[in-house]
Amino acid sequence: MNCGAYHGTSLMVKFGYYGREVLENVEHPAAGYRKIFETVEELNEPLPTEVTGVLPSWLSGSLLRMGPGLFEVGAEPFHHLFDGQALIHKFDLRSGHVTYHRRFIRSDTYVRAMTEKRVVITEFGTAAYPDPCKNIFSRFFTYFQGIEVTDNCLVNIYPIGEDFYAVTETNFITKVDPDSLETLKKVDLCDYLSVNGVTAHPHTDADGSVYNIGNCFGKNMSLAYNIVKIPPPQKDGSDPLKRSEVVVQLPSSERFKPSYVHSFGMTENHFVFVEQPVKINLLKFLSSWSLRGTNYMDCFESNEYIGTWFHLVTREPAAYLDSHKFRTSGFNVFHHINAYEDQGFVVVDLCTWKGCDFVYNYLYLANMRAEWEQVKESAMTAPQPEVRRYRRDGLAGARGPLLWTPTG
Ligand SMILES: [Fe+2]
Repeated sequence: MNCGAYHGTSLMVKFGYYGREVLENVEHPAAGYRKIFETVEELNEPLPTEVTGVLPSWLSGSLLRMGPGLFEVGAEPFHHLFDGQALIHKFDLRSGHVTYHRRFIRSDTYVRAMTEKRVVITEFGTAAYPDPCKNIFSRFFTYFQGIEVTDNCLVNIYPIGEDFYAVTETNFITKVDPDSLETLKKVDLCDYLSVNGVTAHPHTDADGSVYNIGNCFGKNMSLAYNIVKIPPPQKDGSDPLKRSEVVVQLPSSERFKPSYVHSFGMTENHFVFVEQPVKINLLKFLSSWSLRGTNYMDCFESNEYIGTWFHLVTREPAAYLDSHKFRTSGFNVFHHINAYEDQGFVVVDLCTWKGCDFVYNYLYLANMRAEWEQVKESAMTAPQPEVRRYRRDGLAGARGPLLWTPTG
């Protein structure tokens, strides 16, 4: 997508816009959309599949995917799309044939839920409550035990060194065996890095280094963001996680309210961080959650006045370019489509959602399982998606602040 005719202007061209008039004409999906929000059983062994068409004989390997697979525990339902318990899927491709396998990740969250037959650890949009069988005194102390952070790694899976880790967006990642799909080990990233959590969408460099971003406590207990690096496989066979490091720190626009970060951009020479107006209210998080059974979703808020900030960082040497900060109108952003450098420009393509209203507010399971007409109506009142390209020009020899320019 190279539409480079608008250098230095404020013109933005929409690559794709799925507006109200388009959505109204979307037909009911034939396969039954509710099915994907139903609990499934794991498999004891891989199943053969029927292949439609022909797979190239040279295509060989495994596709691993994560997702929610258990949407209630006993009589207690999970409420949000991101709450279901992590299920790992594997499609194994060999000599034109495919087998399919799936297993639940034995996270602490899952194992304890299965053991106690209730939601034990608070999920993204579902609060856990103390065991009702306990007496009032033990329940009181349960409230004050502090926050138990979920390790329900349903979002993504990626390699670190020679190992594979299932991940969510907290500080916990889970090592899995990509052959048997068995759960091997829970890892706390806080043992290695100064972050409160990291995104589920890291970047892997050509040498195998893994880069990610997460919020952290910076100077004077202000919130900040750390870009971190986990090095490639080590020659001595040691765990690369032990050599993890913070590459650079970026400031937060609000001292106690870091933005929700779902992904970031990495080019050959730069990191791009888009700080959106969806905020995590840390004070609310700390004061209310452990007392009243608040969940993660309750701690988000939208700042309608702060807009969206673009931040730029050089990779070598790692340095935050304060003078290159740029503010634009507020939008939600979750996924970066691409980021790259082109003739001295840093270009970043984003899936944006217009406005400050948090898109995750529309992803409660009750909404997703509604009648199709209701699902469409809800989608039309939600922020509308828009693919945008932003480009930062004049990097070579630039002096002083220059603008991030949305371009088409
Ligand atoms: Fe994502």
